[in-house]
Amino acid sequence: MKTMTSIEDLRQEARRRVPRVFFDYAEGGSYAEQTLNANRADLERIKLRQRILVDVSQRSTATTIAGEPASLPLALAPIGLCGMQHGDGEILACRAAQEAGIPFCLSTMSICSIEDVAAAVAKPFWFQLYVMKDRGFVRALIERAAAAKCSALVLTVDLQVLGQRHRDVKNGLSVPPELRIRNLIDIAGKPKWALSVARGRRKTFGNLAGHVRGMENVNSLSLWIADQFDATLSWKDVEWIAGLWRGKLILKGILDVEDARIAAKTGAVGLVVSNHGGRQLDGASSSIAVLPAIVDAVGASVEVLFDGGIRSGQDIMRARALGARACLSGRAYVYGLGAGGQAGVARAIEILRNELDVTMALTGTTRIDEIDRRVIAAM
Ligand SMILES: Cc1cc2nc3c(=O)[nH]c(=O)nc-3n(C[C@H](O)[C@H](O)[C@H](O)COP(=O)(O)O)c2cc1C
Repeated sequence: MKTMTSIEDLRQEARRRVPRVFFDYAEGGSYAEQTLNANRADLERIKLRQRILVDVSQRSTATTIAGEPASLPLALAPIGLCGMQHGDGEILACRAAQEAGIPFCLSTMSICSIEDVAAAVAKPFWFQLYVMKDRGFVRALIERAAAAKCSALVLTVDLQVLGQRHRDVKNGLSVPPELRIRNLIDIAGKPKWALSVARGRRKTFGNLAGHVRGMENVNSLSLWIADQFDATLSWKDVEWIAGLWRGKLILKGILDVEDARIAAKTGAVGLVVSNHGGRQLDGASSSIAVLPAIVDAVGASVEVLFDGGIRSGQDIMRARALGARACLSGRAYVYGLGAGGQAGVARAIEILRNELDVTMALTGTTRIDEIDRRVIAAM
C-alpha cells in the first residue's frame, strides 16, 4: 500500500482488481455525466492561497462532526453494494474509519446488514435510510438502526426516482452479478476479488433479505427494490421519520437554498450538500458551486456537510474554506476498498489526511477552525 501515493493510484488498482460491472457502478454517473464531471472540475478551479513564514509546527486536523469528535473533517459516505467491491466491504470500511477516528455511514443498500456490521465493529456508526413505499419496512429499519445503537440517521432525500446510469444498464448490473459470458470471463480474471466475495458473509442486500415478506429469492428482491423508491416522498415523511428516530438526524441530498431553509427547520442537526455524486439529476450544479450560498443561508442553525468530487486533502480544504463543517468521501474510499480491502480504505483515509495536513501548513493554518474563505485565492 505504501506505493499507493494518491487516490488515483488506488483507483487504478481497483480497476485492475474489481470486475468491470462493479467498478463501473462505482465510477459512473447518470446520463451524460455532466454533473459528475462538474463536481471535479469546479473543485479544481478553486485556487488556494500560499502563505509563508507562519509558524505551522503545531498542527491538528481534529474537529467534531455532528457533535462527535473526529480526527479529520471527513466521514465515509453511504455506498450501496460495498460488499461487491470487496467481500465484507462494509465491515472492512467501517473498521478502517473507526481506527482512523472518523464516522462511517452504512447504506440501506449495503451487502452486510446493520446487524452484521454492529456485531463486527467496536463503536457506533451512522445509518443511511432510503424511504421505501413499504413504510412498515422503513419503520422496522429505523428500529433496527436504533437497536444497533447507530449514532446518527442519515436520511437521503434525492432519490425519489432513479437517475439512469447507462453503464449499469449496458453491463447488466445486478446482485449477485448477472451470469453473462462477458461477466464470467471478467470475473475469472479477478481471482482475489472472487475469493473475497465468496468468503464474505453475504452476497445480496443484507438489510433487505429475509426482512421483506414474500421476497425470499434474490431476483424478486431486485424487482422489489426497483419498485420501492417512492415518488410521493415529501417533507411530511421527513417529519414522520424525525418523530420515529430519537437520535441525531442528518438530511442528505440538498442542493438548493430554498430546500436548505426548509431542511434547517426539521430538527435535523445537519444536512449534506450533495448531488449523490453526480448519479441523480444530470445537469444539476456541482455541489461545490452551491455550497457557499447554502452555508450563508443556514450555516448558523445546522451543520452543513458536503460531498461530491472529494479526491484529495486539498479538496477537503476547499470545501471547508467555503463553509462545510466536514466532507463525506464516496468514491475515494471505494477505490481504496477495491484496491486492498480494509488496508486500502485505511490508505485512502491516510492519503487524504496527509494531504490536508500539508495543505494546512502551506496555507499557514494550524487548526481546522482557522480554515475559512481567507485560504482561497481571489479568482
Ligand atoms: C457506488 C456508489 C454508491 C452509492 N450509494 C449510495 C447509497 O446507497 N445511499 C446514498 O445516500 N448515497 C449513495 N451514494 C452517494 C454517496 O453517498 C455520495 O453522495 C457520493 O459518492 C459523493 O461523491 P464522490 O463519490 O465524488 O465522493 C453512492 C455513491 C456511489 C459512488
